[in-house]
Amino acid sequence: MNKYNDYKLINYDKLTYAGNIQNLATVEDNENYVFIKGDICDSKQLKNVFEEFNPEFVVNFAAETHVDRSIKATDEFIKTNIEGTQTLLEKAREHEIKKLVHISTDEVYGAVGPSQQVDETGQLAPNNPYAASKAAADMLLRAAMKTYRQPINIVRSTNNYGPYQFPEKFIPLVISNAMHHKKIPIYGSGKNMRDWLYVLDNCRAIELVLNNASPGEIYNVSTNNLISNLDLAKQILAIMEKPEKYIEFVEDRPGHDFCYAIDSTKIRKELGWQPNIDFKIGLQQTVQWYLNHEEWLDDVSTGKYLDNLEKVKQQYPEV
Ligand SMILES: NC(=O)c1ccc[n+]([C@@H]2O[C@H](COP(=O)([O-])OP(=O)(O)OC[C@H]3O[C@@H](n4cnc5c(N)ncnc54)[C@H](O)[C@@H]3O)[C@@H](O)[C@H]2O)c1
Repeated sequence: MNKYNDYKLINYDKLTYAGNIQNLATVEDNENYVFIKGDICDSKQLKNVFEEFNPEFVVNFAAETHVDRSIKATDEFIKTNIEGTQTLLEKAREHEIKKLVHISTDEVYGAVGPSQQVDETGQLAPNNPYAASKAAADMLLRAAMKTYRQPINIVRSTNNYGPYQFPEKFIPLVISNAMHHKKIPIYGSGKNMRDWLYVLDNCRAIELVLNNASPGEIYNVSTNNLISNLDLAKQILAIMEKPEKYIEFVEDRPGHDFCYAIDSTKIRKELGWQPNIDFKIGLQQTVQWYLNHEEWLDDVSTGKYLDNLEKVKQQYPEV
């Protein structure tokens, strides 16, 4: 909103349990910002929104994203991540959107590394229902690029971290549990590795793809900064000056990929992207953000933030 202050930004979001309208309080009053509570599976509502606002670009972040939830119940993942993506891409085509940028994930490649990396030509081999639903969406997008020459880019990033992340995700979960003197569950041996990307570095990557990438291109986004879950939990506890005894090993997640090592040479060379935020600094800032936003964390952890949904229903009538 700050950088593109002559753009009208339409935020179309279903506000599932993962969506929190409070996170947008700072932009809510901006005259170039419009919030619409809507579902990407709802073809009629999407049509109305496209007709009313006539957007030039679409960036699709909407998804069910938590692997553990996908293992327990897959329905919503199939609906939003596959059917929703297909519905959105069809509407984007009908309305001749100049470009659709779809946010995918490193998980579509399945377990890779740490001794090797996969680039954008790598085989899709997802190992959990979330990853499979994202890979299925990537296939539908690929088909639309090839069949209709639809202008689409796909961005596959590694794990994001930073402020406002829902505390079911690993980093805010560790911080939140340590703040509340609760055990920190670590799957299996804790040796599984992830490559962490500060959310604003990912935003800059998406911005570059939106502005400068040729249609049909796919980009991996990674920092080459692999760290085991156990070491990460220990680093967070050290920053918070909390004891390691909070760590509790629990039964491993079924289908738990050991590592996602993706090669991001393409976006670095073609679009000049590189991460700006050093992991140690980003992690420190993130921990500090959660410590400074205890009320936000409590609202989200206790479910109080869901009360806002009633307000939203009155404030944002259906388009
Ligand atoms: N978080 C990560 O580490 C990470 C890493 C790689 C890729 N991704 C991808 O980035 C995107 C955003 O991830 P996130 O972590 O912010 O997710 P999140 O779960 O925190 O938020 C998802 C958002 O999508 C909205 N949504 C869900 N279903 C919808 C629907 N049917 N219609 C409209 N809106 C809907 C929710 O209300 C919420 O605001 C996802 O596509 C995810 O697969 C995330």
